[in-house]
Amino acid sequence: MASITYEDACCVYPGADKLAVDSLNLDIADGEFVVLVGPSGSGKSTALRMLAGLEEIDSGAISIGGRSMVGVAPKDRDIAMVFQNYALYPNKTVGENMGFALKMRGVPVAERTAKVADAAKLLDLTEYLDRKPANLSGGQRQRVAMGRAIVREPQVFCMDEPLSNLDAKLRVQTRTQIAALQRRLGTTTVYVTHDQVEAMTMGDRVAVLKFGQLQQFASPAELYDRPRNAFVAGFIGSPAMNLFTAPVSDGAIAVGGGTVDLDDDTAALLRGTGLSRVTVGIRPESLALADAEGVSSEVALLEDLGSDTFLYAGLKDPDVTTLDGTPVTLVARCPRRTPARIGDGVRLRQTDRAVHLFDPESGERLN
Ligand SMILES: Nc1ncnc2c1ncn2[C@@H]1O[C@H](COP(=O)(O)OP(=O)(O)OP(=O)(O)O)[C@@H](O)[C@H]1O
Ligand SMILES: [Mg+2]
Repeated sequence: MASITYEDACCVYPGADKLAVDSLNLDIADGEFVVLVGPSGSGKSTALRMLAGLEEIDSGAISIGGRSMVGVAPKDRDIAMVFQNYALYPNKTVGENMGFALKMRGVPVAERTAKVADAAKLLDLTEYLDRKPANLSGGQRQRVAMGRAIVREPQVFCMDEPLSNLDAKLRVQTRTQIAALQRRLGTTTVYVTHDQVEAMTMGDRVAVLKFGQLQQFASPAELYDRPRNAFVAGFIGSPAMNLFTAPVSDGAIAVGGGTVDLDDDTAALLRGTGLSRVTVGIRPESLALADAEGVSSEVALLEDLGSDTFLYAGLKDPDVTTLDGTPVTLVARCPRRTPARIGDGVRLRQTDRAVHLFDPESGERLN
């Protein structure tokens, strides 16, 4: 087991004009489960591969257990990787697949068999040890790949989208199993995904990346409650946070004929900034349908999920804009079977004062 430190770690691919990973700083504690999340191309896999030694660290440093990994070969880093395509040997049985790294290491048969049996038990694979991978379900193959990593008893697990080949239900089930297993083994784990739900449910802490740059590194609750910038605010949470830019006058934000309900401290803070426009973030669960007061809008879409309905309503206020200039659609989490129809005129009100404010230019959090 070991802690991991990224210190201004950079990676640039030959011929690229931009860094794939740009001055990444992360302090990962021994035994911690850290998730790297971000959109496609944000540098997640590259950051993970730098840790495993599969990509060069062009400047800065990465250390494991206090020992610098610069110049250390992948095989000498004591890391086990689990990839999206499990890369199992088709001609070997489950047991042989799981024990292969130990065999290469020259571990005696008896010890190898015992370790494989232990891991198989942990992963519910005992009855499949003599099967070939082709005769397993996707979820079972995924567990074999995990088993192969576990038997090596590495200092660190690196996992790159290990659940992407599973169907939705199995993904949910398997992510719970992986998180529970990691807690049991206590092995420091860096896990890459583009799925923010996976990140939020699995990680002790989550690092959000964009264009190779770290946006925020915090617990799931902190990311949700206090996103550091508008990008993180919009990336974490499903449906996404309502984000729009609106005019400010004397500490009040005007939207659709009404004003955003702010607590006194936030209003004072906003007044102090002297901004004439501000980017506002309100989560769908902080909005509800109102009878009389509230922002008037028109229902554009209803998503009845059985447990809740997400109501999307277009806002008709030319002074309020989205970050990319498209018309503003607000989404509110409403009770299931909400009796509204597309095209209905409705009013939306805030159910609380959980309002996130961001600088409209830099996107940095203000409150
Ligand atoms: N082998 C390579 N050669 C050149 N550029 C690369 C190479 N691999 C990745 N890149 C570039 O580096 C950047 C980061 O890529 P990376 O694979 O780390 O992203 P990612 O966050 O893992 O994306 P995804 O979610 O699509 O897997 C991208 O701009 C990508 O095009
Ligand atoms: Mg990737």
